[in-house]
Amino acid sequence: MKLNIAVLPGDGIGPEVTAQAVKVLKAVAMEFNHVFTFNYGLIGASAIEKSGSPLPEETISICEKADAILFGAIGKTSYDLDPNAKVRPEQGLLGLRKTLDLYANIRPIIAYEDLLNKSSLKKNQIKDTNILIYRELTSGIYFGEKKLSADGNKASDICEYTREEIERIAHLAFKAAQARKRKLTLVDKANVLESSRLWRRVVLELEPQYPNVKTDYMYIDNAAMELIINPKQFDVILTENMFGDILSEEASVIVGSIGLLASASLGKDHAMFEPIHGAYTKATNKGIANPIASILSAAMLLDHFGLDDEASLVRQGVDKSLKLHITTPDLNTKYDNISTTKVGDFIEDFIHNPDETNLNFTNIHLGQSTII
Ligand code: IPM
Ligand code: MG
Repeated sequence: MKLNIAVLPGDGIGPEVTAQAVKVLKAVAMEFNHVFTFNYGLIGASAIEKSGSPLPEETISICEKADAILFGAIGKTSYDLDPNAKVRPEQGLLGLRKTLDLYANIRPIIAYEDLLNKSSLKKNQIKDTNILIYRELTSGIYFGEKKLSADGNKASDICEYTREEIERIAHLAFKAAQARKRKLTLVDKANVLESSRLWRRVVLELEPQYPNVKTDYMYIDNAAMELIINPKQFDVILTENMFGDILSEEASVIVGSIGLLASASLGKDHAMFEPIHGAYTKATNKGIANPIASILSAAMLLDHFGLDDEASLVRQGVDKSLKLHITTPDLNTKYDNISTTKVGDFIEDFIHNPDETNLNFTNIHLGQSTII
């Protein structure tokens, strides 16, 4: 298969983790005889510094021409501390999601057997958790009208949804539930918010079209608690933009590190694959950033094109790296010198030689003969 992939490394740790995902995709292309080409674009703070805009026209054009986009991370501390900044790095990512109409953000939350003890939650509570969050990504409070009064003392952000915006992602979430454990939980705040009542009305109306799916309705405050107390009750969670942002980050506690969480942002004509973590500026270029979220985002890219064997091999490589403790310090209590690049090298190596023994793997590529 020929794929033209736009790569937007972005800010902070974005470039170093994205480089590992690209390395892994190149190994997949080589082993499975695909032709993947990579075209790089600027976005975020690094784009502001070079071009004045967080989303240069050239980046939009690279993405529009691409079959898929691999995104890194966005954000910079100097902007976080300046609420008066007129231009912000995040506008790059939000602008791209909106321009390409990437309305469905899919975030898998899987508790890995080998990492159960990395979570601050109890093992038996989280074991076998497997949730798919469908987060609406191009509307709601993120994109509604924003106002600041002339004297700077009053501000508002409108949360607006249309029936059509809810229906299109709800159908995707129902279909995903049909292919899984057939349970869908709509998370909203329908006891208070009019926009949430529209979500609830629309999903209630769609329910009869999916009779084999059990549909539940839960308020966001309750869901935030249930996700920690009993995450296994969830199969597919459907929710609006901001609730999805918060819930998915909370869910990273179940998995053990936010550095493991990948996502796919899908629209009718475009598809982007992005880790859910941010730029983690203070870790930049220290070799400590976990590249697995980016590598698993690349696996979701492969899924999107039906490259099942390829995606599965990448996931096996990730599993093996976790099993053998070839992980960055956020997860590693056994070895203290496994860098971002080494994790990428290991998974790249696995793709080329999946049948080698554990011992050889570790020794050959990491150059650490005593590691096991
Ligand atoms: C995410 C991030 C973004 C969001 C930020 C960087 C704008 O937190 O993808 O979860 O809020 O959507
Ligand atoms: Mg977030």
